[in-house]
Amino acid sequence: MKDDRMNTDSSKEPEKCACEGQAKAGRRDFLLKIGLGLNAIAAAAIGIPIVGYALSSFVQKFPLKSVSLGPVSNFPEGTTRLASYRNPYSRKWDGDTAEIPCWVRHISNNDFQVFAINCTHLGCPVRWFDESKLFMCPCHGGAYYQDGTHAAGPPPRPLYTYEWWVENNELFLKGGILPTLADPKV
Ligand code: FES
Repeated sequence: MKDDRMNTDSSKEPEKCACEGQAKAGRRDFLLKIGLGLNAIAAAAIGIPIVGYALSSFVQKFPLKSVSLGPVSNFPEGTTRLASYRNPYSRKWDGDTAEIPCWVRHISNNDFQVFAINCTHLGCPVRWFDESKLFMCPCHGGAYYQDGTHAAGPPPRPLYTYEWWVENNELFLKGGILPTLADPKV
């Protein structure tokens, strides 16, 4: 009887060891999977913003939209006049702040120049002086010739210009995001 019992006990030992080994292997797999999962989350948290940043320069979030400045007859030939348009990305509560002023120079026939009002130095609104045929900036004395090129003072480049065209005797421009020094096309 005693021998039988001994035999029975010793036969259970290896089974117990095998179970413990399997349990350890199961825990190891589980922890490995958690580790891999956390690494994947960390990689996504770091990688997604980097990829988004890299792709953002190819995707235009606010594409420019066609905006009317009114009939061509509002801008007599040989004059430079102040005009304004409503920002196509404005919201109701923006009120008058959504009205964007710009300078329209009617050179001849269907030849125009449309300038952003902001000085290219620090953004103050420039004013047109018909007597001297100059755009003057009140902030630091910047001056521009009638074609928008730099005449004097600290501005680093000509006035920003809008893309414009005439359709059915109406003057249109591409409006939306205001131009900045980062945009070499304007
Ligand atoms: S903002 Fe116009 S000269 Fe400085």
